[in-house]
Amino acid sequence: MSQINLEPLKDPQRFLDQQVLSETEIDAAIAAVVAKVKHNIVKLGETFPSSSTVNNAYVTTKNVEWTTGFWTGILWLCYEVTGDDHFRHLAEKNVVSFKARIDQEIDVDHHDLGFLYSPSCVSAYKLTGNPVAKAAALEAADKLMTRYNPKGQFIQAWGAQGSADNYRLIVDAMLNIPLLFWASEETGDEKYRDVATKHYATTLKYAIRDDASAFHTFYFDPVTGAPLGGKTRQGYSDDSSWARGQAWLIYGIALNYTRLRDDSDLPTYEAVTNYFLNRVPADMVSYWDLIFGDQDWQSKDSSATAIAVCGMQQMQRFIAADDPLHDVYAHAAAGMLRSLIRNYTEAETTGITALLNHGVYSWHSGRGVDEGNLWGDYFFLEALVRYKKDWQMYW
Ligand code: GLY
Repeated sequence: MSQINLEPLKDPQRFLDQQVLSETEIDAAIAAVVAKVKHNIVKLGETFPSSSTVNNAYVTTKNVEWTTGFWTGILWLCYEVTGDDHFRHLAEKNVVSFKARIDQEIDVDHHDLGFLYSPSCVSAYKLTGNPVAKAAALEAADKLMTRYNPKGQFIQAWGAQGSADNYRLIVDAMLNIPLLFWASEETGDEKYRDVATKHYATTLKYAIRDDASAFHTFYFDPVTGAPLGGKTRQGYSDDSSWARGQAWLIYGIALNYTRLRDDSDLPTYEAVTNYFLNRVPADMVSYWDLIFGDQDWQSKDSSATAIAVCGMQQMQRFIAADDPLHDVYAHAAAGMLRSLIRNYTEAETTGITALLNHGVYSWHSGRGVDEGNLWGDYFFLEALVRYKKDWQMYW
């Protein structure tokens, strides 16, 4: 990104026409989620749901892959809104599993330690002071630090550390670096914050195109650290914007601004958010890549919308009330969340059911296409909880 093209909103009135969400709507949506989570707990026991559904039902899995922390996060959110110890006790058992996972280094050689440990263990520590959760999350932060490449100044997403074929960042890591900020806050050691800040700056510099759309991934030269170019993995093409990637940027900038209050990020936030909103289709829920519109008959990615809503809710408090965007963004977020509630939540199985239907995990590999997924479920519930109360975030 050499210079941001701040695309104005094409039709702000369309968003202003969306009603704000009533307490009744939020309460009913949360009650429906809690009922489904109770139903799922009976089916899951102490196992975890798979990353995405198959024919609309999750299958059970061990604590592996990058998504299990979202299940534990859902349990913590349910505990917060109900006060029901049933959720807390299961979440605490999950915490023990997450401690074992990092101690035994089970499927942790990647950058997704924030996705795993913020909603499962930082949450547990913040809500209950659980020392095992704190220790697990700090170990995960230390592990994440090992993914940092000084040449290029970024956290490497996947693959053997330093390997040329994987010498790249991905925008998803915007939600992994909050674990590092938290680790500095807890330990007083600035090294975590330093790496997070460098990775963040590199992401903003290279993973956002001049038109404010997102590259999914961006490569660097492993010898010199020089920027090489952007490529997609989960988006439609190298020069399109994967909807979830754009949403990870919206939420990531909001989270970073919350901590660092760097006002130079404000136009960047506005640019990436407007790019997303200008491509929101008629029912307010994005297609899996922002290149698609209603004429293309593609799948929606409900999870991208849920993530964007959370990011917009987080950033809303920093936008001045007399800024015209304040109300436009507030109504846009409400309209998107209402559409998720009304159109994307019907239980479609008697098995382990998604809280949010019609997401896309990976279109190219055919995995989780037009299915529910755990992160969509988590961010949907997080968005609802953000409307319900003054939520102390897990990120
Ligand atoms: N972080 C992986 C994904 O969003 O699919």
